Formats: sequence, structure tokens, C-alpha cells
Amino acid sequence: MVWSNQRNKALQERAQRVIPGGMYGHMSTGLLPQEFPQFFQRGKGCRIWDADGNEYVDFMCAYGPSLLGYNDPQVDAAAAAQQKLGDALNGPGEVMVELAEAFVSLVSHADWAMFCKNGTDATTMAMVTARAHTGRRVILAAKDAYHGADPWCVPAPRSKGTLPEDRAHVAYYEYNNAQSLADAMKAHAGDVAAVFAVPFRHDVFRDQEAPDLEYAAAARRLCDETGALLVVDDIRAGFRQARDCSWSLMGIEPDLSCWGKCFANGHPISALLGAEHVREAARSIFVTGSFWFSAVPMAAGIETLRQIRDTDYLERLQSAGQALREGLARQAATHGFALRQSGPAQMPQIFFDEDPDFRIGYAWTAECLKHGAYFHPYHNMFLSAAHTPADIARALEATDQAFEAVRRRRDALQPAPQIRPVLDLLARA
Ligand SMILES: Cc1ncc(COP(=O)(O)O)c(C=O)c1O
Repeated sequence: MVWSNQRNKALQERAQRVIPGGMYGHMSTGLLPQEFPQFFQRGKGCRIWDADGNEYVDFMCAYGPSLLGYNDPQVDAAAAAQQKLGDALNGPGEVMVELAEAFVSLVSHADWAMFCKNGTDATTMAMVTARAHTGRRVILAAKDAYHGADPWCVPAPRSKGTLPEDRAHVAYYEYNNAQSLADAMKAHAGDVAAVFAVPFRHDVFRDQEAPDLEYAAAARRLCDETGALLVVDDIRAGFRQARDCSWSLMGIEPDLSCWGKCFANGHPISALLGAEHVREAARSIFVTGSFWFSAVPMAAGIETLRQIRDTDYLERLQSAGQALREGLARQAATHGFALRQSGPAQMPQIFFDEDPDFRIGYAWTAECLKHGAYFHPYHNMFLSAAHTPADIARALEATDQAFEAVRRRRDALQPAPQIRPVLDLLARA
């Protein structure tokens, strides 16, 4: 089938009339190369089909949620069985207790779980719980780390319509910098409710960085010394590095952890997990939502957690990521490109060296699309347990053709105009 985007373009025109901006949020293709489809028909395993029916080996996994692969048959069977019984009722089903039990038995720092809908619900609930627990105001977060889109945490360039007061008690430190964290603690001495940390540095537009043990240990120690809570935001990386909280890999136990995206394999649910000593504060706050207690995503979550516990899903997604990483490195060298691949192989961030305005990355990802593989030019990506060796081989065929196409017209490439404002922001930072 010849790649085409006519139907997508027609949908975008219709969307412009009835949806502000045609699309909003992190899935808007506004900053992406113009070839990127905005609308999709379906997904299965690690493949997605866009509105025009073009098929891709996908490396975004819906920005994380597809951990086992789109439409995992066992997860969807569990969801369908619950759907027959009921979803949003007057209260939760037995599945809520079962899901909390499954989570608590899997995640070593956790003694309790509360469920909500999106990742931002979980991080906001962590913030409120920490303030309730400590009676203090200040949240320390790493500069440029993403914790969601509520006014208290929405990234500064996208904060229109929010007030500086919304972030008045949020202060920032440098990720992986124990001294910077200690300084921030000191600057707000006596008023720090929580330190937020992502499992590793996965900021958009940047190379990813593994957590430094000294920094992570300092975060734990400073929280212990001051009574502030340590919150690990595992919403993006959860269960892609460990069958436990990601910082368990360093032997660091947070007081609270935030989960979303993947633990029901695409079904809408997120969670806040906590240690025993924070239970009373969590009990004391008022948090809720019309769909927070829906039973179908909880049934999907129970089956996903079962597969996380009982299968080799993690080893499969790690080895698929490694095969992709090695294949891309070989191809890049052959075609004369220097590639920077950072982060865990199963959550890769890929940039071209000497590509400060992303012109090569944009051209390469656009070519990958046309040859049947969906890569992102500036956001970290995700593998799923459904990426088989054959899928990686198919994707590497696409990337090889993309490298060749970009190599041929490398000297004629221009930066995409839509990236300009981002480049200005990065230059200022
Ligand atoms: C680390 C992290 N925290 C919080 C969120 C917010 O999650 P959601 O978009 O589901 O509200 C995200 C989303 O990408 C995230 O990556």
C-alpha cells in the first residue's frame, strides 16, 4: 500500500472547525513534522494504523500506556467480562480491593493504594497528601520535570490561563544534583512538604539521564531529616524498568509513588501508592471523580499486574529495546550519522549529533513514517512486550531506508518552521 495522508488532512480540516486548535495537549502533532498523522484507526500488538490505513511498527505505545501491546487479549477479556457486569455504578466493585491488594503485594514501599483516572490526578493527590501529612506548603520538583497539566505543575511555556499564585509554593532544584536539592531544602527550611522525583531524567527535547545514586540517597536522607515526603513519579516509566517502583533498583523507597499510563495496559486508571506512616493523611483528604471508581479499568489493571508479576514481559521489552538500539547504532554508522541514544533501551530517546535545530531528526522520523515505523523526533519513546524480534527487524528495514533517504538530501535539509518557538525557549533555558 502506498503511504498517503489524505483522510488525515481532511479530518484535521474538520477538526479545526469544531475543536479549538484542531487538537490540544501532548498528542497534538502541531510541533511535529507535517507527515505525522493526527488521527488513528486502531492498534494491535505493537502496530498502529492511522486514519488513512497506513500501518506502523509503533514506538510510542500511546505515550506509554501500551505495556503489553495494544488490545492484549487477556487484559481485554478481563475488561469485557467486567463490562458485562457493570462499570460506573454507585460504588466500586470487589475489583477495587483486589487491585489495591495486587499493587501492594507488588510494590515494596506501598502499604495502601488509591485510584484515580489520569497521571495528573495522582501527582496532585500526592501533593495534597504531602501537605496534609506535614502541615507545610512547599513542593520541591526538579526543573523541567513533567508532573502533569494541572495549574500547579503545568510546564511554564504552556501555562497560559494559570496564575503565578498556582505555583507560589512550588520550588525547583536541578535533577541529579544533591547540592541543588540540599540548597532548595535549606531555602524553604521548615516548610517543605514533599520532594518530587522522576525515576530518571526524561525531559522532552533532552537526552535522558540515569538517576545518580548520590542524588537519590540525598533525597531520601533530606526527607528523613526534615519530615518531608519523598514522592517518586513513576507515571511515565513505571513497570518498564522493574516489577516494583523504579527507585527500588537503587534500594531507595519513597513514601509515596504515582502511577498511571500503563498498569491497566491502556485502560483509563492511575494510582497513588503510599507507605503506612502516610495512610492517615491520605485518609483525611477529599479527592474524587465521577469515573475514578469505574470497575472495567480496575479489572484490566488486575490482569495487567498479573502479567507483570507472572510473565517475562519485562525481559522481552528490554531485549526488544536492546535489539533496536544496536540495530540503529549499526545503521547510523553505516550511513555516516552520529546518533545519541539515551535512557533505558526500552524507553529510548534518540537524537542526531550536530542537529541543534532538529532538521535531521525531523527528516528522519518523517521518512521512517513513510516506510512504516513510528518514531518521535523529540519525546522519549516506549517499547512494549508485544515488540517481537520480527517487529524490530521490520522497523529496522524502515529506519535503514530512512537513513539512506536523509543521507541523500542531507545538505538540502531546512529546519521545520513549527519548531522555532521551541528552539527559542531551549536557547533561553
Ligand atoms: C512523569 C509524568 N508525570 C505525570 C504525568 C501526567 O500524566 P497524565 O497525562 O496521565 O495526566 C505524565 C504524563 O506524561 C508524566 O510523564
